[in-house]
Amino acid sequence: MKRIVVFSGAGLSAESGIPTFRDSDGLWEQHRIEDVASPDGWQRDPELVLDFYGKRFQKMNLVQPNAAHYALAELQKKFDVINITQNIDTLLEQAGAKNVWHLHGRLDTAKCEFHHEIFGYQPTHRCDFKTLISKPIALGDTCPKCGGRLRPDVVWFGESVDMRQPYLEELIDTASVFIGVGTSAQVYPAAGLLTLFADTEQKYFIDPNPAYGALYGFSVLEGKASVKLPELAKQLLGSAN
Ligand code: APR
Repeated sequence: MKRIVVFSGAGLSAESGIPTFRDSDGLWEQHRIEDVASPDGWQRDPELVLDFYGKRFQKMNLVQPNAAHYALAELQKKFDVINITQNIDTLLEQAGAKNVWHLHGRLDTAKCEFHHEIFGYQPTHRCDFKTLISKPIALGDTCPKCGGRLRPDVVWFGESVDMRQPYLEELIDTASVFIGVGTSAQVYPAAGLLTLFADTEQKYFIDPNPAYGALYGFSVLEGKASVKLPELAKQLLGSAN
């Protein structure tokens, strides 16, 4: 079965009603990154941070996957599809995607603030506690293992992203198709994937305002994910043996 690797950003979920970050009405127009998505912000005002992610958690539970999410799930009928997403919503899973790698974490889990990748602060200890959550993390929620504060299980600016090196190299070596969709490709190391997969035989880039793609031999499909991904999925499924 041929392997397709999909690299997605906020544009994949935009038509489900989840705001992107850098479009005109985006999240970074309404919030300062250093206040709500950084270790400093967490130390300074954890309540503001929990309110920011709590609202995103509640929003996620009010929306549905869109045709783009379902098209990626549909591709699984004839392809081994690996979704590497920058998104912390779980709409891909809700649409039936089986293999989703959340590069920047996810909204439906919480972790102890003394987790391994802590940066900028000398943690008093290390704790690997993580848990699924069914409601937003509340100020005062603590880790049952060590008593640390529970925090969103997301990668903040200034924290490291686990690029799962050996596995990623295997994906680069084995992908027949690479699809970039709905990302401004401005945040590294995630955006570096677009060049890491530069040698993949079939490469597509879907975005209404493609900031990327032509440079590295991508077939740029200018348009919305909910339109272009179902079209591309139909084409790929039709050509698969
Ligand atoms: N279909 C496809 N793409 C869309 C759509 C749509 N309907 N609507 C918007 N887009 C595109 C925009 O043109 C833009 O290129 O989605 C992209 C959104 O870019 P950003 O808001 O920068 O989101 P993203 O690229 O995912 O940001 C990456 O930055 O702030 C951090 O951690 C955060 O994971 C995020 C990372």
